[in-house]
Amino acid sequence: MRKILITGGAGFIGSNFVLYMRKRYPSDRIIVFDKLTYAGNLENLKSLSSGPEYLFIKGDIKDFEILDRIFGKEEIDAIVNFAAESHVDRSILGPKAFIETNVLGTFALLEVARKHWGASKDKRFLHVSTDEVYGSLGDTGYFTEATPYSPNSPYAASKASSDHLVRAYFHTYGLPVVTTNCSNNYGPYQFPEKLMPLMIINALKGKNLPVYGDGQNVRDWLYVEDHCRAIDMVLDKGRGGETYNIGGKNEKKNIDLVNEVCSIIDERLSADKGLSARYPFKGSRKGLIHFVKDRPGHDRRYAIDCAKIEKELGWRPEHSFEAGIRKTIDWYLENPGWWERIISGEYRDYYETQYKERLVEKRSE
Ligand code: NAD
Ligand code: TYD
Repeated sequence: MRKILITGGAGFIGSNFVLYMRKRYPSDRIIVFDKLTYAGNLENLKSLSSGPEYLFIKGDIKDFEILDRIFGKEEIDAIVNFAAESHVDRSILGPKAFIETNVLGTFALLEVARKHWGASKDKRFLHVSTDEVYGSLGDTGYFTEATPYSPNSPYAASKASSDHLVRAYFHTYGLPVVTTNCSNNYGPYQFPEKLMPLMIINALKGKNLPVYGDGQNVRDWLYVEDHCRAIDMVLDKGRGGETYNIGGKNEKKNIDLVNEVCSIIDERLSADKGLSARYPFKGSRKGLIHFVKDRPGHDRRYAIDCAKIEKELGWRPEHSFEAGIRKTIDWYLENPGWWERIISGEYRDYYETQYKERLVEKRSE
């Protein structure tokens, strides 16, 4: 039985990972530590209740004292660090929170781990990062683990900075770290500010679909469950001090992705009277696409070479884009309450009334 501290476990990928690990390793003790920013949503974890196998603690990864107390109380075997400010557009509007959480927060987490673990080989600090640290590609080529860092947005720069700190703690203090750099994820529980859920929800509601610039920017899409499986494997078997790239082998131009979302939604709704009554729309939803002002410093193309994790750990993405996008659209169709509560802002109160007593241990305890 392991005790795993999962930071940012109430966010998109973090909550998918918590649910994945809960199912796969029922006797591990999972401690979710999350600040519950706008992106954290305890509703994602409503199927779990406090007990020997699960605990939720609200807190900020920048807060060394609270983390120190947790480490004093619980013999933590592994940390998986998802906690971050994660949206590029927000980082352009206000970079400060990105520096605070992504840089200073990761630093505090590393310091606590160093204090309690030293160079112990039995422990594991897995830092979850992004391919955006590598910058932008032209029409050809792939990011490998040897690609030099060249971040272009404040978000990417803050993640690059945290990756460097993690690396330095391995080389300087022997802290048992490992870092993953993953491409764009999509799937259930993604906050509807990111491309995929935004387009799905706006298409359902008959609202405009804003595509930045010329829509020719390319992202490499990975279904979130495949990412969770990769992290599990790296946690278990990844080599200390190494970094592993994770990607979906699913390069898509933004405009092609949005067109595909429209086609699938048109098709799904026309085949279902109940859904078409709920989300009435005449004609093709492609007509909702609007090209809007480009994002400043918008990276043109991301594409991952994941040969290392394939060869060393035997990981491979299992979902084709076609399968993943259909599963994702179905999830948003089946869970309208989840995203409607976010859009209305109600999800904050909803969590307070529905889940707080059941899930939250207060900081003072
Ligand atoms: P998200 O924004 O959905 O979730 C982030 C979570 O971190 C939220 O629950 C939030 O409350 C929590 N958090 C934020 N600041 C915190 C703080 N100071 N202390 C404690 N908790 C805090 O993000 P996501 O998309 O799930 O991304 C998770 C991680 O994966 C991030 O580190 C991100 O950089 C990385 N990543 C994301 C993608 C992607 O496509 N979404 C791809 C590669 C890597
Ligand atoms: P996003 O989901 O924000 O992820 P990231 O910027 O981390 O890759 O955006 C994915 C791509 O979609 C990116 O090229 C920007 C573009 N985009 C739009 O065209 N319109 C939108 O409304 C959003 C949110 C993103």
